[in-house]
Amino acid sequence: MREGKFFNQLGILLILTVFTLFLVNKAISKEYTVGDDEEWNSQANFLSWSEKYNFTVGDVLVFKYVKGQHNVYEVVEGTFRSCDANSGVLAKYESGDDRVELTEAKKYWFLCNIEGHCLGGMRFSIDVKQASAPSDNTDPKNVSPSSQPHEFPAAPPPTSSSRGTLLSESWKTWICIMAFGMFFSLYN
Ligand SMILES: *[C@@H]1O[C@H](CO)[C@@H](O)[C@H](O)[C@H]1NC(C)=O
Repeated sequence: MREGKFFNQLGILLILTVFTLFLVNKAISKEYTVGDDEEWNSQANFLSWSEKYNFTVGDVLVFKYVKGQHNVYEVVEGTFRSCDANSGVLAKYESGDDRVELTEAKKYWFLCNIEGHCLGGMRFSIDVKQASAPSDNTDPKNVSPSSQPHEFPAAPPPTSSSRGTLLSESWKTWICIMAFGMFFSLYN
C-alpha cells in the first residue's frame, strides 16, 4: 500500500532525527577525569587542575582511584576550608570510579575524607556555569515546585514569555511522541 510506504519512510526519518539529537546532546556535555592522567590521588595538584577548565551544567566529573585508599565528598564551603567533614557534607562517593554529574550552576566543593588527605591538598572547588549565555533570569529548576505549578499544553494560554520556556522545555517530549506515533504507523 502506497500510503503505508510513505509513513514507513517518514517513521525511519523521525527515528534517525531523534537518534541524532540524542547524540548531539551527549556530545555537548563533557566528561572530565579529575586530575587528568594523575587521577584522584595525594600527589596531584587539584588547584591547578580545577583552573584548567570551564565547567558547564551537564558536564560529568570522573574520580578514579583505588577503592578504599581515597573517597570523594561533596561539601559546603566551610567544610572545604576546615577539612572537617563532621558536618556540611552534601554527597559521598567511594566506588573508586565515581561519576558526578554537575547538575546545577553553582560552586561545587570536593575533598577526600581519608585522614590527612584534605589538608594535604586533595580538595578543589569549581564554579559551574549555565551552558547557554549567562543571564540573571531565575532558573525555573531552582524555583520550588509548589510555588510554580507545572503547566500543561491544555492549560489556559500562558503569557508569551513563559510560552517560550514551555516550548523549549517540552520539545524533546513532543519529538518522542511524534516518533512513537510514526513508529506504530510502521505496523499499520
Ligand atoms: C574559560 O573561560 C574564559 C573566560 O570566558 C576564557 O578566557 C578561557 O579561555 C576559557 N578556558 C577554557 C579552557 O576554555
